[in-house]
Amino acid sequence: MGVPTSSSTDPATVVGMIEALDLATGHRVLEIGTGTGYSTALMCHYLGEDNVATVEVDAQVAARADAALEAAGFSTWTATGDGLLGHPYRAPYDRVIATCVVRRIPYAWIRQTRPEGIVLGTVGSWPWGTGLAKLTVGDDGTAEGSIVRRASFMQARAQAVAPVAGDLSARTAYADSERRSQMSPLVLEEWMPAFLAQLAAPGVQFVRATGRDGSPLRYLFDPEKESFAEFLVDGENWIVRQGGPVALWDVVERCLVAWQDAGAPEIDSVRLHVTPTSHRYWIDQAPSLRWEHRIA
Ligand SMILES: C[S@@+](CC[C@H](N)C(=O)[O-])C[C@H]1O[C@@H](n2cnc3c(N)ncnc32)[C@H](O)[C@@H]1O
Repeated sequence: MGVPTSSSTDPATVVGMIEALDLATGHRVLEIGTGTGYSTALMCHYLGEDNVATVEVDAQVAARADAALEAAGFSTWTATGDGLLGHPYRAPYDRVIATCVVRRIPYAWIRQTRPEGIVLGTVGSWPWGTGLAKLTVGDDGTAEGSIVRRASFMQARAQAVAPVAGDLSARTAYADSERRSQMSPLVLEEWMPAFLAQLAAPGVQFVRATGRDGSPLRYLFDPEKESFAEFLVDGENWIVRQGGPVALWDVVERCLVAWQDAGAPEIDSVRLHVTPTSHRYWIDQAPSLRWEHRIA
């Protein structure tokens, strides 16, 4: 079961992320999500305070972190604002690290990183099924790399998804199709299938509920596309009702079947290429597992 019960960040997670940055003396770093200032302090200690800039969206949190950093002896470049814009005033950076989760890597981070520099951030929009992307910026202004491991943090504020709630029966009133599901939707409670579902159907949300008779109910919703899949237990099986212009479960199930057929590769098999207009994800050993999320 991959569903976390808490979104708190432990110091080991932050240290592990900093280790993945491959820092070297003289590097200039931009951090998104100052939080307590703990990770900022570690990087200031290693690189020197002049080489670290950090952006925090929450003014109170930023003020507390600033005071804590000063108390620890670091007068670093702290800024309050939306870190999805990066921090152009100190660019270019050798490293950009985000300790909050983004639906997609903002191109501003890549634009503000030198060629051969690294951008490290967690991608996804669910509380689980998110992955740490490590990208190297190329001379052509695009960035490429892979998902190096599972990772979870709080969602970046400007990209946070409003969870689907309220009258679920109104959302699922009009189904266009109904069939037996090939696999249990409970698979989406596992980390890698959840990650894949978000690649296959970006914008989709997974919702758990209980019917009046106590039976488990599961849903996929894409509020933007007014589409849903509702799963109902039928003995040993699940029935799926789907409605709206996108048959969400058809898309996700097809992806999960292909992933299982390819030997269920782990999250670190996923590659990612980011350009100003798109995010392209793929898995080398499974040619059908590729997705392009276009912005323009
Ligand atoms: C997990 S905490 C950061 C942990 C931090 N690095 C530490 O060592 O304590 C995530 C932080 O990201 C901040 N955050 C969320 N969205 C943001 C955004 N769009 N820009 C900048 N900071 C953001 C949150 O307010 C929160 O303080």
